[in-house]
Order: sequence, then C-alpha cells, then structure tokens
Amino acid sequence: MKFNNILVKKNNALAQVTINRPKKLNALNSETIHELSEAFEALEEDDNIKVVVLTGAGDKAFVAGADISEFAHFSVDEGANLARKGQEILFNLIENLSKPVIAAINGFALGGGLELAMSCHFRIASDNAKMGLPEVSLGVIPGYGGTQRLAQLVGKGKAMELILTASMISAEDAKNCSLVNHVTTPEELLPLAEKLAGKIMRNSSVAISGAIKAVNANFEDGVNGFDVEIEEFGKCFGTQDFKEGTTAFLEKRKPNFPGN
Ligand code: COA
Repeated sequence: MKFNNILVKKNNALAQVTINRPKKLNALNSETIHELSEAFEALEEDDNIKVVVLTGAGDKAFVAGADISEFAHFSVDEGANLARKGQEILFNLIENLSKPVIAAINGFALGGGLELAMSCHFRIASDNAKMGLPEVSLGVIPGYGGTQRLAQLVGKGKAMELILTASMISAEDAKNCSLVNHVTTPEELLPLAEKLAGKIMRNSSVAISGAIKAVNANFEDGVNGFDVEIEEFGKCFGTQDFKEGTTAFLEKRKPNFPGN
C-alpha cells in the first residue's frame, strides 16, 4: 500500500504507524485521515500483526490537530459531516480494533491529535509532550470524540476545565490525571511502546480482543457491559488459546498460543 502522509512499518507481530507531515506538525488533513483509516483496516485484517503503535514523525509533534486550513470556510452541514465521517472511518475504527493500539505521544497532541491518541487503547508520552483540546479558542468544539473520550479518561470536571480553558498540559500533568499511562524520555518512547507491546503479545490474542470489546462496552449507549463480558468470557471456553493457556499452566510451562 502506498501512502503520501503516513508510514507503516512491520516488525514481526508489531506494526508501527507514523503520521508523516512533520512540516505541518503532522496535522490531520482529509487525505491523512483516509490513509490512516485504510492502514488500520488493513492491519485489522493482517493475522500476523498483534499490536499497533501509533506515533508522529519528527521531534516536535504527535499531531497538532485537524488541519485548520481545510475546514476554515466550511458550512454548518460540512462541519457536521467532517466530524461524523472522521469519527466513523477512523476514531471509532481504532477504538474498536480487535488488536491493541498504543499511542506513543512524542510532542504536541492537540485537538484532533489528542482525540486520535484518546481513541487508542492506551497512551504513553515523552516528557516534552504537550496535550490539550484548544478548539474553543478557534470558535469550535472538539468533533472527533474529544468531549466524550476526555471525560471518560480524566473525569467530567477535569475534562470541562481542559476543554473550556483550551489549556495545554504537560506530559507529567497528563499522567497525573490518567490521560497517559507512562512518561519517559523522547529516546525511550518507542522502546517503551515496544516493551509494552511485547508483554501484550505473550498473551492470547483472542482473549485480548474479547477484553477490548468488553471494556469498550461500558462506554456504548444502550449496551450492558456486564452482559458483553459474560458473552466474551463464555466464548473463550471454545478457543484453542484457552485450552493451551490452561494446559500450559497445569503443566507448569509457558503457553504457546495459536491465536484462535
Ligand atoms: N492545522 C494546520 N496547520 C498546522 C496546524 C494545524 N492544526 N498546526 C500546525 N500547523 C502548521 C503551521 O501552520 C505551520 O505551517 P507553515 O510553516 O506552513 O506556516 C507549521 O505547521 C508549523 O507550525 P508553527 O505554528 O509554525 O509551529 P510553532 O512551534 O510556532 O507552534 C503550535 C506550535 C502547536 C503551538 C501551533 O502550531 C498551533 O497552535 N497549532 C494549532 C493547534 C490547534 O489549535 N489545534 C487544534 C485544531 S482543531
């Protein structure tokens, strides 16, 4: 697959997707959103890939937001379509991917950039990263799920403060409010992502996809997360991974999961 704005690198079971418009601080224009959508669709179908790391090119930004130059002249309908389409084809796709996506935030993650990171299953950041949803300073509100996911991650009061003040916070402050899980140096960011990915890969990929579904169910309207958990829990008992995991435990050896 040939892309203009992103790089996809595969190393055994790990895929790294890099947003590659460093001169524009990796701002998400429409082409980049479509390319990311295509890349994640393909990674979902790729049975060899177990974990995906998402990061930005250069040492300054993960993603500095949606590309302001593209929507500055939009009408009410065009604005709503931009948000709806983006949520459908990219942000919801990543959140519901059956394999874990780790955001490695290597600099500014603002507006659509932070929303993209928040659609990933969890986030780590370099100590020079800065995060925020500055949309109201442009006369607009977050439109790629930011009002929902930020409140889910940091709580309603903190989300209100961040969104209404349009403030940027440091990586350390982001860790203190559970927006990111770990903070490290810029040099150690991708190695840390790989280390976490390695830990995930040792586990059953079938169980992992069930766990993602069950955790996400809590945040879906009209869905009972406990019921989804029961269903996903039950499904595990029909998998080879479950047989292997329990047998390996009883035989006092490490499991070798077939992934089905
Ligand atoms: N959309 C479009 N272009 C963007 C962008 C965005 N969200 N963020 C940065 N860029 C572009 C700049 O226009 C500039 O392009 P140019 O060199 O052709 O003029 C280039 O990226 C570098 O950005 P610059 O502003 O010169 O870097 P800086 O270090 O002075 O400031 C930021 C960095 C992140 C503080 C600043 O770029 C910024 O505020 N960006 C917008 C953040 C935002 O509001 N995002 C939410 C959008 S909804």
